[in-house]
Amino acid sequence: MNYKHIEEILTDDIAGKVVNIRGWIYRKRRVGKLIFFVLRDSTDIVQCVVDKKTAGAEKFKMLDKVGVESSITLTGTVQKEERAPTGYEVHVQNFEIVGESYNFPIGRDKSDEFLLDNRHLWMRSREMNAILKIRSTVFDALHEFFVENGYYETHGPMFVTGAVEGGSTLFEVPYFGRKAYLTQSSQFYLETLIFSLEKVFTIAPSFRAEKSRTRRHLTEYWHAEAEVAWYHNEDMMRDEERMIVHIIQRVLKDRKKELEMLNRDVEFLKNIDTPFERMKYEKIIEFANEHGLELKYGDDLGADEETFITKHFNAPVFVTHYPQEIKPFYHRPDPDNPRVVLCHDLLAPEGYGEIIGGGERIYKLEVLLRRLEEENLNPDDYFWYVDLRRYGSVPHAGFGLGVERFVWWLAGLDHIKHAIPYPRTIRRLTP
Ligand code: 4AD
Ligand code: MG
Repeated sequence: MNYKHIEEILTDDIAGKVVNIRGWIYRKRRVGKLIFFVLRDSTDIVQCVVDKKTAGAEKFKMLDKVGVESSITLTGTVQKEERAPTGYEVHVQNFEIVGESYNFPIGRDKSDEFLLDNRHLWMRSREMNAILKIRSTVFDALHEFFVENGYYETHGPMFVTGAVEGGSTLFEVPYFGRKAYLTQSSQFYLETLIFSLEKVFTIAPSFRAEKSRTRRHLTEYWHAEAEVAWYHNEDMMRDEERMIVHIIQRVLKDRKKELEMLNRDVEFLKNIDTPFERMKYEKIIEFANEHGLELKYGDDLGADEETFITKHFNAPVFVTHYPQEIKPFYHRPDPDNPRVVLCHDLLAPEGYGEIIGGGERIYKLEVLLRRLEEENLNPDDYFWYVDLRRYGSVPHAGFGLGVERFVWWLAGLDHIKHAIPYPRTIRRLTP
């Protein structure tokens, strides 16, 4: 039997024709000797109508009895129907209930917590379906961008022995009598790989033992990271802004329907183009104060500060030249002003905040050793990282994009947990 997807049958060309479709019952009601139900599949929904005479009394009764989310295959004639939710209706000649469903736990007005407890079932919702498709397109467009621009895909290990982004958010795991950690970032491994491949990227999970409960923190997230030999801070930012615009364009082209379903302001996204504004950290502090948020030089920008500041932006903004003290040890100090480092964060507008962290790396041996010492870190723990500065070191830069942070903003979601199928947070480990 040749089945069509619902999306394919919602056209005037198919109207009047007999089709086979299959999916799940999304809504259902009986009106006398007719049963109307809305069928959904991965692509869309369509109203179907079954009359008792055609179906036969017994099958009609069976269909009447089963609940929403029962799976069903059917054969019927497509008809144009203005009053149906997607403009067409299928007059069912024959159907088969494949898997019955009774008392599906998810109905209207369930709390966020309830939906998270039942996330394995909530995945079927129209809303999740739209988010999952946008997310899939984002991964696809990321690969497309990197490959088209000469980056090689590669992978670092997930079990590691040291911190990249500070010890306080490391997850410790027992490792055959030794201590290991789950990786916070593949950056240092990517740095080793540029000595072979020059331009590399990886898309992999990163783990952070984040105790903070915010709208933007997960303990496990997908991290798109890149590292490039011979690049300086500005070179890296140029690739990043092109990458962000490329992905937005792809999502606008392929996922417009889904964005609209989520009530995302599509016009706002259409207006985003390169180059993104670059603002020094110093200027951001001034900007914040001018807009009524009291910050002083040296303060880190946390979730609340970024929300406040980026509500005033209508496109992503790069913030550069942070003070050395508030960034990890590996950032290259600015030769013109060693109090600041050659780094950048990309802040998404509309109150979303940081989606990328990146910058130029220290490439001189003596500078790296000094910075490790200043931060009370043991160079032996980083012996292989230090080695890179011993054998033919080169200037280089890289970045990490939090994929869920990006999807969160792109789809205009209220919480990052909606941007990943199975969110892991301080309180949530199931399903
Ligand atoms: O700014 P971060 O900590 O930078 C790094 O990890 C660098 N080593 C990356 C690199 O240069 N290769 O993290 C990078 C990005 C952040 O901008 C944010 O988008 C995301 O990772 N991120 C998180 N996303 C979700 N939940 C969390 N707890 C996150 N922590 C960071
Ligand atoms: Mg950061």
